[in-house]
Parts: sequence; structure tokens; C-alpha cells
Amino acid sequence: MNEVMKLMQSHNSVRSYTGESIDETMLEEIIACGQAAASSSFIQAYSIIRVTDQDKRRLIAEASGGQSWIIDAAEFLVLCADMQRVNYASQKSGQGELQGYTEHFLAATVDTALMAQNMMLAAESCGLGCVFIGGIRNDPQVTVDALQLPEHVYPAFGFCLGWPAQRNAVKPRMPVSSVLHQNTYDLEAVSSQVDEYDSLMAEYYGSRYSNAKSSDWSAPTTRAIQGKRREHMLAFLQARGFLKR
Ligand SMILES: Cc1cc2nc3c(=O)[nH]c(=O)nc-3n(C[C@H](O)[C@H](O)[C@H](O)COP(=O)(O)O)c2cc1C
Repeated sequence: MNEVMKLMQSHNSVRSYTGESIDETMLEEIIACGQAAASSSFIQAYSIIRVTDQDKRRLIAEASGGQSWIIDAAEFLVLCADMQRVNYASQKSGQGELQGYTEHFLAATVDTALMAQNMMLAAESCGLGCVFIGGIRNDPQVTVDALQLPEHVYPAFGFCLGWPAQRNAVKPRMPVSSVLHQNTYDLEAVSSQVDEYDSLMAEYYGSRYSNAKSSDWSAPTTRAIQGKRREHMLAFLQARGFLKR
């Protein structure tokens, strides 16, 4: 493995920060690294809202289920999928207005996620610790109102960055053989792969140095995903100008 690969495989989300600030130039370089990601049809369909106003941060933290690291992080960025510029460019070049196609929602969302992951890696390479905040989708209108987001823009997730005060152990991922299929999808292998991973994660959770617990992967993960249906999301995204057809 080279140094970049080692860095990638040492990722863990950091939710506890020293109070130290991040140099402005470093932050700009991290954002430029995000922008260097590949982009579907080169639409670059994202905007980053840097939230320095602590009142706004508190509001968003509360709407995200009380995630205090949103307030404590040196920087809190809201990563938005943004078709506003593409909509303008489309009309400017005679292609007409965007019409809220599902494909355009996917393109903008994937662009935003790729940009975000590039930023996270760049930040981690500087020694910073980070965590994404999907919790803003608990009540995304709070973020829309606080940040005055226009139509064709939706807050996909937040991004906390800071100098780590505490790090968790790296969580073991599923083995490559579980996620890599050869030519066709290996449906029969799914149950044994999940069972094996449950054992691995039970061992990890039971023996980790902080927050040790008795748990496998299946139970907490599915409790989390089934508990986060966020049924408001379809109507919310449609009101933002996405997923209309
Ligand atoms: C899109 C996205 C949203 C996330 N939202 C939250 C969040 O709201 N709060 C949080 O503490 N962690 C959040 N996480 C972090 C995950 O919980 C974390 O990545 C996962 O448990 C794996 O742990 P690791 O990143 O430490 O390896 C999010 C991760 C992603 C990719």
C-alpha cells in the first residue's frame, strides 16, 4: 500500500475536537480538492455553505437530533446538491429550464457525495478529523430557512471538521470478497457473508478500547436505517425542484 491508500484505510469519523481553528488557506485547499473530483457531464452540481454563525449552528444541531459536534467543530459546512447554476446555464444556452428529472437529482447528489469524500480525504491528510452529518435531513427545512437556500438546491448532508481531541478505533469494513462480485451478482453468498461479518463486528465492538459493547452489525445498522425513514424527504425534494418526474 502507498501512503494515500494507508490514509484511506485509516479513516474514522471524529466527533470530538480541540478548540483550535483551521487556517483559511488550508480550508480553501480542502475545498479545491473537493472540486477536483469527477463530475457527471461536468455539471459541478454542488454548493458549500460555511456556517460560522453559532446561532445557526445551534439551530441545525438541534434539528439534527442534538449533535453537539456541529457546534464544537472548527468548521461546519453544509454540502448542498445544487442545480441552480446548471438551470441558469441551460436557459442561457437555449436548452430551457430544468424540469426536476430524477436523473438530474441523482447526478447532483452523486457529484456532491464525490466532492464531499474528496474533501474528507484532503482534510484527513492534513491531520484533521471529520464527520458527515446526514442528521440535517431530520428536518431539512430548518437548514433551508437558516441558510436561505433557493430552489434547485437541497442540503444533502453536513460536514464537521476540526483538530481531533479523541479518535475512535478504525471500524473493520466487510471483506472485499463480500462486496466484489465476479461477472454476476452472487445472491446465494449474501446470508453467510452477513453472518460472518456479524461475528467479526461483535468481536470488534466487544474488544474496542472506547465504548465497548455487545453488538453485531445487523441489529444496530438496520435499527438505524429503519428508524430513519424521513418520510418528508420526497415532498421536501419536490418542493426544492427535484424528483418531479
Ligand atoms: C452521508 C453520511 C451521513 C452521516 N451522518 C452522520 C450523522 O448525522 N452523525 C454522525 O455522528 N455520523 C454520521 N455519519 C458517519 C457514519 O456514522 C460513519 O461513517 C459510520 O458509522 C462508519 O464509521 P467511520 O466513519 O468512523 O468508519 C454519516 C456518514 C455518511 C457517509
